Amino acid sequence: MKRILCLTLFSLFFLSSDLFAQEEIPHLQQVGNKYQLVVDGKPYLMLAGELGNSTASTMESMKPVWPRLKKLNLNTVLLPIYWELFEPEEGKFDYKLIEDLILEARKYDLKLVVLWFGSWKNSMSSHVPSWVKLNQKRFPRAVSKEGKSQEILTAFSENNMKADLNAYQHLLKYIKKIDGSHHTVILMQPENEIGMLPSARDYHPLANQKFKEEVPRELLDYIVNNEDILNPEFSEIWKNNGAREQGSWEEVFGKGLHTDEIFMAYYFAHYANEVTKAGKEEYPLPAYVNTALNRPDVKPGDYPSGGPLPHLLDIWKAGSPNIDFYAPDFYNPRFKHWNDLYIRQGNPLFIPEHTFDNTVAAKALFAIGHYEALGFAPFSVEQIPSEPFTPKEQKLAQVYEIIQQIEPILEANRGQNRIEGVLLNREVNEMIFTLGDYEFTAEHTFNLGWEPNSNEDVWEPAGAIIVQTADNEFFYAGYGVSLKMKNLKKPNSRVGILKADRGYFEEGKWKVFQHLNGDQTHQGRHICSFIDDVSIQRFTLYEYD
Ligand code: DGJ
Repeated sequence: MKRILCLTLFSLFFLSSDLFAQEEIPHLQQVGNKYQLVVDGKPYLMLAGELGNSTASTMESMKPVWPRLKKLNLNTVLLPIYWELFEPEEGKFDYKLIEDLILEARKYDLKLVVLWFGSWKNSMSSHVPSWVKLNQKRFPRAVSKEGKSQEILTAFSENNMKADLNAYQHLLKYIKKIDGSHHTVILMQPENEIGMLPSARDYHPLANQKFKEEVPRELLDYIVNNEDILNPEFSEIWKNNGAREQGSWEEVFGKGLHTDEIFMAYYFAHYANEVTKAGKEEYPLPAYVNTALNRPDVKPGDYPSGGPLPHLLDIWKAGSPNIDFYAPDFYNPRFKHWNDLYIRQGNPLFIPEHTFDNTVAAKALFAIGHYEALGFAPFSVEQIPSEPFTPKEQKLAQVYEIIQQIEPILEANRGQNRIEGVLLNREVNEMIFTLGDYEFTAEHTFNLGWEPNSNEDVWEPAGAIIVQTADNEFFYAGYGVSLKMKNLKKPNSRVGILKADRGYFEEGKWKVFQHLNGDQTHQGRHICSFIDDVSIQRFTLYEYD
């Protein structure tokens, strides 16, 4: 009897914790010094891709895409919902497309990140419904310094903001209705690459009025309260201008394009925040805003001014407390440089867009290893359907596959300084890092000169994730990387490989495919897999005198 009671209580406990997990809305959670996305009570790593802008506009156009996404081993798709299609007539919402997309994603066991192409898509307002486009009196446009009206809704109109947030709120309400217990949609991106063009600020009379007013208290309080952690490039502007705690925009930040941009950033943030907040009131899915990165020596207005760029993140944080994080889109070089700027002040890293080139597979490994990113997504991942896969597609599919295999060990070690990522090419062909007592020197395998393409001028990028699972035990997942080790605590000893296996995870269990030694470890000198060998290895180390 006692046994039966125990068993019943035991099953009830697990049943209810399962039910609880189902009710739990996808959310972000801090673990150690990093963040993770939690879906249905479990950590979720987005091995993602973003669709080209028009692909998800009909189910017919999506038909060949779904199986292709599966073959690429994606677990998550970023796709737009377009305001113009969602609310073709004011107040009349068309839920068919979002419903069909969610249902079809479920069939393919894919999660969705929904991009709201609302007021702004790449600065412009091309996706607003015709009833908004045609009523410019009610829905006013931004104006350039020269007084020219732009196809950009002004961020300073209540009408614009209310119309957008009303549509977004209906979208979230509907997602909750059909997906609130399934969690196919796991994350939202309100708007897309917000920024003012072709001037650094909007010159609409409503904007001019705000520009003359005092800097809002909310922003100044934020600056003062966070003085010690402000990003230096922003803090300098404020301090060099006297660290004023009150005044107009030009009084507080000085005269110039930089102030025009700060002003825009605050009001864009405020607008995006109101839209996000309205959506979260219905269904509080986590939300991020993406950014078009600027290029050096280009002035605000020549690039989209006021988006959540690194030098404006403090203003965005002050103005958009309902937005969970800010994310960079990569069509620029200097991957590490920008990511380093985005992770400041604990901003969780997610890369929602990267040109789909032959660097993405290595960069996914680097982002997820080095930054413990929430996910990675090449842009226009479906491309023009071509069979068989091109080499870059094949690499991405292989890399996503091995990351999926090691995901449980990644999540078990997240936020504890036990994971590293490597990204190497001809120019940066060596990287040194530490895990536990060991210092690793990672090199591009072309340095060995053994592979046929190592003489080429441009080297295919190589990437890997290394995870420490015990004091002297590690996993390597990647390609084109060799590793040599030193024990920092025993500087007079040399480090040898005790055991190295190549293998795979099957239902969470490690299976050895080959015991590696001889040429495969260079007779015990290094751990390595060549550029065409996307694989997982488990190895243990020892010291000898
Ligand atoms: C960045 C945007 O966010 C995407 O929607 C797309 O327009 C790409 N640029 C370029 O094709």
